[in-house]
Amino acid sequence: MPRIAYVNGRYVAHADAFVHIEDRGYQFADGVYEVCEVARGFIVDMPRHLGRLNRSLTELSIDWPVTPGVLPIILREVVRRNHVADGLVYLQVTRGVASRDFAFPAGTKPSLVVTARKADPAAAAKRAESGIKVITVPENRWDRVDIKSVGLLPNVLAKQKAKEAGAQEAWFVDADGTVKEGGSSNAWIVTRDGVLVTRPAEHGILRGITRTTLFDVAAKLGLKIEERGFSVAEAKAAREVFISSATTIAMPIVAIDGASVANGHPGSITLSLRHAFFDVAEKSPA
Ligand code: PDD
Repeated sequence: MPRIAYVNGRYVAHADAFVHIEDRGYQFADGVYEVCEVARGFIVDMPRHLGRLNRSLTELSIDWPVTPGVLPIILREVVRRNHVADGLVYLQVTRGVASRDFAFPAGTKPSLVVTARKADPAAAAKRAESGIKVITVPENRWDRVDIKSVGLLPNVLAKQKAKEAGAQEAWFVDADGTVKEGGSSNAWIVTRDGVLVTRPAEHGILRGITRTTLFDVAAKLGLKIEERGFSVAEAKAAREVFISSATTIAMPIVAIDGASVANGHPGSITLSLRHAFFDVAEKSPA
């Protein structure tokens, strides 16, 4: 079954899906994106993802590429045409195609690309059963990481370093040892008293949609959350450590920089959040 992508108003074969060489996303990383999980035939938390897209676009003064009400239809159509029941749908909006010049071009129409791909829920469940490893790297990103920009080179380099170290995620850490977030996820710990701790999302991190929905899940499970920074040392001594993102949900961390944390096993609170997540998240039929 050939994969299909949406590119600027057309559904095309994935292999023939192209944007122009002077697309500003390609030349300047002048664009934003969203990734939604697709689970059991539903797009998970789509309204929250589109709300954050609206914020990212507004912060960068990029116009909506289509009427906001049309985007859910396109996302659903791409998921449907690719027969994705479990996987993800990716959307990217750039400022559009214009002759290379740093300042915003006049009258350029934003570009919209949407793709979808399958993922194996059994493989993800298996990863969650054993947990994954993180390394830490110094924070070297710009200070507007609250915008979900496609400018991800520090994240690419950090995650490559993690891969080379046999880990699956890299945590950006401030000069004072405070954990910011992962290359593509938010960071959490569970204290000895069973309290969830995650950094406030006002600045310095992306306000993860999974993070926001986990607040709802925690409330349902009667778990307390403290929004505050935590250090690498505190994480290493925590009862549980996990990350959250649309592609991982709540994923246990069992090692930080090669040292075992949380007895080297996924924690029960993390797994209970993971298991309750889908019941609490908003589900739009795909
Ligand atoms: N990344 N922080 C960063 C830097 C991210 O790139 C992501 C998501 C998150 C978690 O956000 P959410 O819960 O909305 O997925 C936090 C996506 C999955 C990606 O780039 O593939």
